[in-house]
Amino acid sequence: MQGKIYANDLFSIGKIDHRINSSLAEHMGRSIYGGIYDPGNRLSDSGGFRKDVIEAVKELDVPMIRYPGGNFVSSYHWEDGIGPKDKRPQKVDLAWQSIESNQFGVDEFMAWLKKVNSTGMMAVNLGTRGIEEACNLLEYCNMDTNTYWANRRRENGHEKPYHVKTWCLGNEMDAPWQIGHKTAHEYGELVNETAKAMRSLDPTIETVVCGSSNEDTPTFGKWETNVLNECYDNVDYISMHQYYDLPSKGTLHHVAKSIRMDKFINSVVALCDAVKATKKSSKTLNISFDEWNVWYHSNEHDEHVKPWQHAPHRLEDVYNFEDALLVGSSLITLLKHVDRVKIACFAQLVNVIAPILTSKNGLIKQTIFTPIRDVSVFGYGETLRTSVQSPTYEAPEFGHVQYLDSVIVKNTDNRYTVFAVNRHETETMNLDVNINDHEFQETKHLSYSCSDPKFVNSKEQSIEEETIQDQGQITLKPFSWNVITFEI
Ligand code: AHR
Repeated sequence: MQGKIYANDLFSIGKIDHRINSSLAEHMGRSIYGGIYDPGNRLSDSGGFRKDVIEAVKELDVPMIRYPGGNFVSSYHWEDGIGPKDKRPQKVDLAWQSIESNQFGVDEFMAWLKKVNSTGMMAVNLGTRGIEEACNLLEYCNMDTNTYWANRRRENGHEKPYHVKTWCLGNEMDAPWQIGHKTAHEYGELVNETAKAMRSLDPTIETVVCGSSNEDTPTFGKWETNVLNECYDNVDYISMHQYYDLPSKGTLHHVAKSIRMDKFINSVVALCDAVKATKKSSKTLNISFDEWNVWYHSNEHDEHVKPWQHAPHRLEDVYNFEDALLVGSSLITLLKHVDRVKIACFAQLVNVIAPILTSKNGLIKQTIFTPIRDVSVFGYGETLRTSVQSPTYEAPEFGHVQYLDSVIVKNTDNRYTVFAVNRHETETMNLDVNINDHEFQETKHLSYSCSDPKFVNSKEQSIEEETIQDQGQITLKPFSWNVITFEI
């Protein structure tokens, strides 16, 4: 099979914001407790943070981590998680019907972020709470004033403010399952007033308004329009969330589902720009795609999770190789939309629908770990408009789908990097790369492939990325993820 890609420096989609490689760490399941934070475990440091998890997160090179939710945030009292640990109250978490010990809170999160070389993206509770609590948290995190909440931070041993830049104003407020769910009109007004108040406290912050919780909700479209009509001028990003479901229509259909992401982004961009046009605004709203991943493997197990446990096993999807290729194609899709997608969070980071899965004795890097790491490490610079040609197949829902999915990135240090997925399960693909009318020979080719789409990584066996020496012709193995670098 033959594939070709073309690009030219003159046709750039835009600069890649490294924050498209961000993630989410929610208080739920074993994401925080037993994942990030595991005091008493021999693998943890003196602060209770798992050292093996820190190393794996550093390897993923995650620039920003959204916290503390997700659904959890919509009934959370952040004040319960600060101060002496023996005074912190144990509470019910309504979102996941769990017990929250509050042994990990804002200060522990900030300390952990330093260890993993990342920054925070804080979400505020606009479900059961409102403007005042959001401003209090902002004061605690960002203010240098001699005032109550800034002083509480100092009393807790943190003299310097944390300077959190990006703030999510609630989570999935359109969703019927959200604690404190609101109509678009109610939510839009609340966001507008909250954003104004928060900005009057700290004008350097940027804010994210909740878009629809997924593209299939009956209110999709109307929600975005009505919410933005209320708050367009006072927000910087609109959120998008998308989880891919089970592969009921086969592997080739599953690995093409990134087409849904592409369509979804185009729709949200159109909705934002329609509000911009009606408002005759000069401001363009960007996208924070702050939850995305595959999520279905754990569904059946989770139906039987008993309520009111602390850190139960929940949403612990074990990912296979076809999921890894879909994740790879989704990352390619995000790269192709860098003109509008400035933030994206693969959800989540540890244990809960995550690339890192811990046990008491160690961790597994799941199949999806490799493409996530590769795009964060090699996908810097700007995305070039990439024309892709390859044989196609017919997939239900999507029509003609190319076997080749690919994008070319112009790196900032005189390199080009090609990310490419060969969706064909059994055939290799010869790839011609034409950039600025030159045929290039690669400097380095990393290939990640597996003949079994259902293969999962385990303690005993995992698929490793390998370096390939192509002889004159770049060759993509069947069913593979590839990172090919060219020196200019
Ligand atoms: O990531 C799991 C959950 O999915 C989040 O809490 C919520 O925002 C979404 O519905």
